[in-house]
Amino acid sequence: MAGGAGGPGGPGGAGGAAGRQAAAWAAQRGLLVRAPPAGTSAPAPPPGGGGGGGGGPLLLVPAPLALAPAPFPRAAFEGALALARPLNALVEAVSGDPDYLARTLAPAAAHDEFAHRLLRLHEEVRQRRGDAWLGARALGIHRSDYLLDEPSGRLLQVELNTIASSFGALASRAAGLHRALAGRFPELGVSDPDTVPENPALEAIARALAVAQEAHPATDGLVLFVVQPGEGNVFDQELLREQLWVQHGVRSERRTLAEVADEAELDAEGRVSLGGESVAVVYYRAGYSPEDYPSESEWGARLTLELSDAFKCPSIQYHLAGAKKVQQDLARPGGVEGFLAAGDAAAVRECFAGLWSLDDPGDADAAAALARARAAPDDFVLKPQREGGGNNLYGEALAARLEQPEGLGAFILMQRIRPPAGRSVLLRGGEASEEEVVSELGVYSTYVRSGGAVLLDCPAGHLLRTKVASSDEGGVAAGFAVIDSPRLV
Ligand SMILES: Nc1ncnc2c1ncn2[C@@H]1O[C@H](COP(=O)(O)OP(=O)(O)O)[C@@H](O)[C@H]1O
Ligand SMILES: [Mg+2]
Repeated sequence: MAGGAGGPGGPGGAGGAAGRQAAAWAAQRGLLVRAPPAGTSAPAPPPGGGGGGGGGPLLLVPAPLALAPAPFPRAAFEGALALARPLNALVEAVSGDPDYLARTLAPAAAHDEFAHRLLRLHEEVRQRRGDAWLGARALGIHRSDYLLDEPSGRLLQVELNTIASSFGALASRAAGLHRALAGRFPELGVSDPDTVPENPALEAIARALAVAQEAHPATDGLVLFVVQPGEGNVFDQELLREQLWVQHGVRSERRTLAEVADEAELDAEGRVSLGGESVAVVYYRAGYSPEDYPSESEWGARLTLELSDAFKCPSIQYHLAGAKKVQQDLARPGGVEGFLAAGDAAAVRECFAGLWSLDDPGDADAAAALARARAAPDDFVLKPQREGGGNNLYGEALAARLEQPEGLGAFILMQRIRPPAGRSVLLRGGEASEEEVVSELGVYSTYVRSGGAVLLDCPAGHLLRTKVASSDEGGVAAGFAVIDSPRLV
């Protein structure tokens, strides 16, 4: 529904004066995304090529936003921040155990060509460089996503992203916008703007990239942003690039994998360069989806970068550690406990939802969950080994897929989390609409290690995404959700 006086936007329509102000203030903060082509809600096609974004006009519109920050329990928010370092440690430990990764991902790889390809890449890099070399440097920019589960009152992890954990920069700017709007427009119902926490994601993510760049032996090396052609979320990246330059004096370049294939040079010592300039850090904002590899040359580009001595965010082993299959395996009894000290393992396990494998006929617990899923498909989510939104199966589609045993090992079965619904005015494509909504919290964490020296290990801001309650999926880039901020209650 659109319009509708008397909602949180106050008189004069769902957005009202605050909605009109929000559009201007969003633009001033760089809270922008590329305009979708006329008549669609999808991201625009490539403007004639390059990750540099050149070639066509860059038409920008305000990013999809919530008008007023959503209430979120303070204890749950703080609990999620406290998991940042244990999750950093978990990714380090899991990524450092190649046999575990190979064993755990094998059932998924047997049925999923993309998972298989990523595992093979890992194997090839190990064979050509050796495990010690692979583990010499680490750069993590993770985002752990959570939903509040209303029936249990617990904050449950949806997934842990180790690759292309996006929207940190825009989320930082949204916090500033929401604080400003809340103070200016009392009808938004935020009595104290300080209940909307400042969000350091932009600074913290740029800092991680800069710390890695500084730790790399190449003096004045570049940070290479590996991006999708025609990326819609350009400003989330450009804000980071500006921060890198202005705060840290670090230069960066954006390239697609196809451009990397053409331009990157790898020397015998493993140093990679672009147009003669050393690359110190590779920051993947692409490469997580099969569509990112339309031909062998993109795979070749990924291999070149993995074989290089640059800090990779993520390295192939960090990438694999973020797989949904790994998430499910860590939730098995003794899973996470095998990788973390007891206290951290217990804290992390606290946020695990029910997760089951579909490839182990001997697992009685999984068999029972499968029977329940057949009887009540709405209580479960079926997830393939994919990232980026729009891939999960729910309800009838889930039930139908469960009836085809072939290839089920590529999926994990997950308890459906039931977040509490609220009401919010969503600003999308110049329209305001008041909706019944649910919110998903993401917490960023950053980690930099050079050899044995841990240079950074901390929480790094947050992202609240709010979506219409009736929508199953939650991605902003995928068009399902808007950027929001928590108002701590
Ligand atoms: N167990 C779950 N219960 C309820 N909603 C879920 C669950 N898992 C995923 N979702 C919804 O689907 C979206 C996409 O799932 P996610 O696991 O994050 O995959 P992706 O890697 O595609 O982002 C989430 O943002 C969330 O809104
Ligand atoms: Mg997700």
